[in-house]
Formats: sequence, C-alpha cells, structure tokens
Amino acid sequence: MRRPMVAGNWKMHGTRASVAELIKGLSDQALPSGVDVAVFPPSLFITQVIEGLEGKSIATGAQNSAVEPQQGALTGEVAPSQLVDAGCELVLIGHSERRQILGEQDSTLILKFAAAQACGLKPVFCVGETLEEREAGKTLEVVGRQLDSIIGQLGIKAFADAIIAYEPVWAIGTGLTATPQQAQDVHKAIREQLAAQDAEVAQNTRLLYGGSVKAANAAELFGMPDIDGGLIGGASLNADEFGAICRAAGN
Ligand code: 13P
Repeated sequence: MRRPMVAGNWKMHGTRASVAELIKGLSDQALPSGVDVAVFPPSLFITQVIEGLEGKSIATGAQNSAVEPQQGALTGEVAPSQLVDAGCELVLIGHSERRQILGEQDSTLILKFAAAQACGLKPVFCVGETLEEREAGKTLEVVGRQLDSIIGQLGIKAFADAIIAYEPVWAIGTGLTATPQQAQDVHKAIREQLAAQDAEVAQNTRLLYGGSVKAANAAELFGMPDIDGGLIGGASLNADEFGAICRAAGN
C-alpha cells in the first residue's frame, strides 16, 4: 500500500516573522498518523522550519538543489549534501516555475535528480503540461517525455526512491483545478509508463497531484485510485487550510 503524502510548497513566500507564525500554526494541527506531511520553505528558512518543527512529524524539503552533490565553488546554489546536513529529506526537482521562468532544461534536471539521490535526498519530480499543450491533445506526450528524460538517463530504479508530482501548469495558482477524472487519467498513464519497465516501482511510487488544491476539493482528488496525495502551493501558506488538506488525505 502506498502511504498518502501531502506536501506544501511555500514557493518564494515568507519573512522570518510569517514563517514563525506558520510554524506555530502547523504545530497546532491534528495531523493524521497515516499521512506523510512535508513542507518546502525557501532555502533561507529551512533551518528555522526544521528547528521550529522539531518533534512534529512533518518533514522538510528544499525547493531546489544544485547539479553537484557536494559543496564547492558554485555561487548561489545549495548542494544536496548541505541540505541533508541541515536536516532536509526531500527536494523538488523540475517545478514548472523553474522550467518556465528560469529555463531549467531536462539535461539540468537529470543532474539535479542524480545529485540529490547520491546524497540520500528524495526527489519530488514535477511534471505537467501547459494549457496550449493540453488543448493540442499533447498532455500525455509531454508528461511522458518529461518522465522519460529521467528514466532514459538514470533508469527506472531512480523512481524506486522518488516521488512524482503531476502539476498541470494551467492549474497552478489559477484557481482552476483539474477535475478528479482529468488528474486520474494522467496519473494512470504515468503509472502505466512506470509499469512498462518495472511493475514494482509502478506499484510503490507515490504520484501527487498539484494545482489549486484546497480543503474543499482535496478529498475528491485524493479519492482517485492513482492519486496518492497532493503538492500544495497557495493553500499551504495557511496552516488551518493545509491541516484540513492533510486530514482529507487521511480519510
Ligand atoms: P497552487 O496550489 O498555488 O496552485 O500551486 C501548486 C504548485 O505549484 C505546488 O508546487
């Protein structure tokens, strides 16, 4: 059985004061024991979050990590080994905002994925199509290609210790959520793509949905057979809302 997971991507939000408030709000939540909960603060706040959530069963991840596993001369980047040293367990790789705004290419993401795993950091690999691609009927082709870029270079076993997040670009921060069936269709295709190479990896890999998830629509999305939880943006900045989404994953 795959354990459900709810992860909050805080993106480029927060100040020391607002992060302290969010930590307090999260600490007060009754979180379901059967759900893995994680937050991804800006790297500046990772230490504050890890210290503030000590003793709570909430994992911390980074939103990005370097192409090289170990520390060295790479200005502005944070090495996966440094994130592990700080207490991080997870890292987002290939979020569409980084692909689109910063121009991160598949070739870079492969290096980041491998570097993270080399240090024991679990990648949450993000895939998803734009509205234009969906309207052109290319959703599965685009998502399939994004996944294949990793499988082709690192092998299917790379996903034995990783998580996949399907985030349709048109649903991110727009209030437009994929319907549960639209999301399920893509998740099913992703699982079939994994299964074509390794049935066990396909069975065990968690597939999260992201894109305007909130407490009001979470249960319906998480009720679909191939949706194992969510990657939450805006709604994760509100501790009560995020707590409610976590509880929806536990039901
Ligand atoms: P929203 O939940 O704000 O749509 O963001 C989703 C997302 O990009 C999470 O990584």
